Amino acid sequence: MRVIIVDSYEQMGVEAANIVAGQIYLKPASVLGLATGSTPVSMYQRLAAVHRTVGLDFSEVTTFNLDEYIGMGADNPQSYHYFMWENFFKHINIKPENVYIPNGMAEDMEAEGERYEKLIAGKGGIDLQVLGIGQNAHIGFNEPDVKFAATTHKVELDEETIQANSRFFGSIDEVPRYAISMGIKTIMMAEHVVLLASGKNKARAVYKAVCGDVTPEAPASILQLHRDVAVIVDKEAAALLPETIRGVHITRKG
Ligand code: GLP
Repeated sequence: MRVIIVDSYEQMGVEAANIVAGQIYLKPASVLGLATGSTPVSMYQRLAAVHRTVGLDFSEVTTFNLDEYIGMGADNPQSYHYFMWENFFKHINIKPENVYIPNGMAEDMEAEGERYEKLIAGKGGIDLQVLGIGQNAHIGFNEPDVKFAATTHKVELDEETIQANSRFFGSIDEVPRYAISMGIKTIMMAEHVVLLASGKNKARAVYKAVCGDVTPEAPASILQLHRDVAVIVDKEAAALLPETIRGVHITRKG
């Protein structure tokens, strides 16, 4: 794992966008794994700006999102489909047919999980997976558990996650209880991984991901076993990391 510590949320987005842009320049037909939540928004904004100003080309890029709430259609403003179009896709030149997000309205979630895995495999697998992290160290919607769930599957959300995500809803009762998420194996199969975290409420999760025991009780800890992970965190999220494993500290001016 490479730990890159930056000064701010905006800088985290810039560093992450640089990695994603580099991937696309090197391989225009890249397959990206994408995340929702407030964390990657600054990265999406930066990528959209790079597209606008220097023409970063997404026309051959394919994307697979990590997860979706069950029971939410693409036109629901709370859905991750809607989030991705609003925050990213509508600002770049990606082809709609190259965008994949699990279908939260599928009748049979097991079949939907299998379909999604086949789609990813059919595109040759994910080149670069972007991840946020939950306060309980979840990645995608892989919640703390007694075992690592392998492939795309239905999950019951933890109370802590429901609580954390309620800020996006009118009330906690509106937060869905179930989601469909890529599994740990799906994520670990990606060629490269970028894990992003910002703010002091993520410090404990970042510590568990980087220095804790590898255990399904802290799902992000599995990333310690991946061969190529960049962890990009701001100072607050890095607060509990020991000096010895703090890698690069990047401060950019302007
Ligand atoms: C959600 C998503 C995760 C995301 C996490 C953190 O539950 N399923 O993919 O990483 O929350 O969200 P945020 O970035 O808003 O803190």
